[in-house]
Amino acid sequence: MTVVGPFGLILRDQALEADVRAALAAVEEGLTEATKSDVPFITEAAQHLVRAGGKRFRPLLVALASHLGDPNAPGVVPSAVVVELTHLATLYHDDVMDEADVRRGVPSANANWDNSVAVLTGDFLFARASHILADLGPEAVRIQAQAFERLVTGQILETAGPRDGQDPVEHYLDVLAGKTGSLVAVSCRFGAMMAGADEAVVDTLTQYGERLGTAFQLSDDVLDIASDSHESGKTPGTDLREGIPTLPVLHLRARAAASGDPRDRELCELLDGDLTDDARHTEALRRLRLHPALEQARRDTIRYAEEARATLAPLPEGPAKAALEALCDAVVHRAG
Ligand code: IPE
Ligand code: IPE
Ligand code: MG
Ligand code: MG
Repeated sequence: MTVVGPFGLILRDQALEADVRAALAAVEEGLTEATKSDVPFITEAAQHLVRAGGKRFRPLLVALASHLGDPNAPGVVPSAVVVELTHLATLYHDDVMDEADVRRGVPSANANWDNSVAVLTGDFLFARASHILADLGPEAVRIQAQAFERLVTGQILETAGPRDGQDPVEHYLDVLAGKTGSLVAVSCRFGAMMAGADEAVVDTLTQYGERLGTAFQLSDDVLDIASDSHESGKTPGTDLREGIPTLPVLHLRARAAASGDPRDRELCELLDGDLTDDARHTEALRRLRLHPALEQARRDTIRYAEEARATLAPLPEGPAKAALEALCDAVVHRAG
C-alpha cells in the first residue's frame, strides 16, 4: 500500500513526491512488521486500526522534515514508524476514554472487542515503538519519553479541567499543546535530526511542529462539530457528548456571558444538560454548526496555522519548505 493521504496535494514537486511516497511505503511495511505478534489475536487487534488507514500525518512530517538533511539516512523511516505507532497507541486508549465507537471509519477496538483489549493493545503498540526507538539511540529515547509525558499530561489536564481561577481558554490551549503539539513536534524533530540537519534547523522544525500540532487539534475540534462521519471516520459530536469543552463551546459560553442573548443562553443550557440523549445531542450539534462561535474558532485555527508557517522563515527555500508551508493551509482546510 502506498500512502500519502489527503495531504498529498501539498507535494507539488515531483521528485519530492516520489521520495515521500517511497518513504511512506517503507513506513507501511514497518508498521505491518511492528504490529505482528506470535499471538494471532494480538496481531489482529494491533493491525485493526493500522489496516483501517488514517492520514499518516506524523510520518508525512518526518519524511518532509528529513528533506532538510539527508532523507535517505537510516533513522528516518524507523523514527516515522515510532511516531505513528505512538500515535496509534494513544488512539486505542483515547477511544476508551472518550467511549468512541468508530475510528478511521471502522469500529474502535473498544467497540469491536472491549476496553481491556483496547488498553492492552495500546500498551503493546507502545512496547513495540520503544523497541524500535532503542536502536535510534538514547537521545531519541529521551525526546520521545519527554513528548509522551507531555501528551499524557495534556490528556490528564483535559480530564481534570481548569485550575481554580484559570482562564478556560488558556487551559484548553495548554491541553492541545500537550496532547497533540508534543508528538507532532517530535515528528518534525525526528525527521530533521535523523537526517543530520543542523541544530538550528532541527529547533526551527520542532517549533513549527508544536504550532502546527496545536492548529491540527484546533481543526480536529472544529471538525468534531462541523464534519460528518464519512469524512472524519469518527462519530461527530463526540467531544460534546463527553462534555469536553472545545474552543467553539468556550467561545459560545463567553459570548453568552457577555451578550446575555437568550438564544445563546439556551444553547449553553442544552450543552449543560444530558447529551447522551440522542435528540438533545443532535439539536445541540445542529445549533452549534450555525453559531458564529464556530466561525470564530475556525479563525483562531487559521491564526495558529499562520504562526506555524511564519516559524519556517529561517529555513532555506526549496520544495520541502514549500510543502511544509502548504501543509499549514491543508491542516486548516481539511475535511477529515
Ligand atoms: C486524531 O489524529 C487524534 C488527534 C490528535 C486529533 P489524526 O487525525 O491524525 O488521526 P488519523 O491518524 O488520521 O486517524
Ligand atoms: C485526542 O484528542 C488526542 C490524542 C489521541 C492524544 P481527540 O479525542 O479530539 O481525538 P479524536 O477526535 O478522538 O481523534
Ligand atoms: Mg477522542
Ligand atoms: Mg477530536
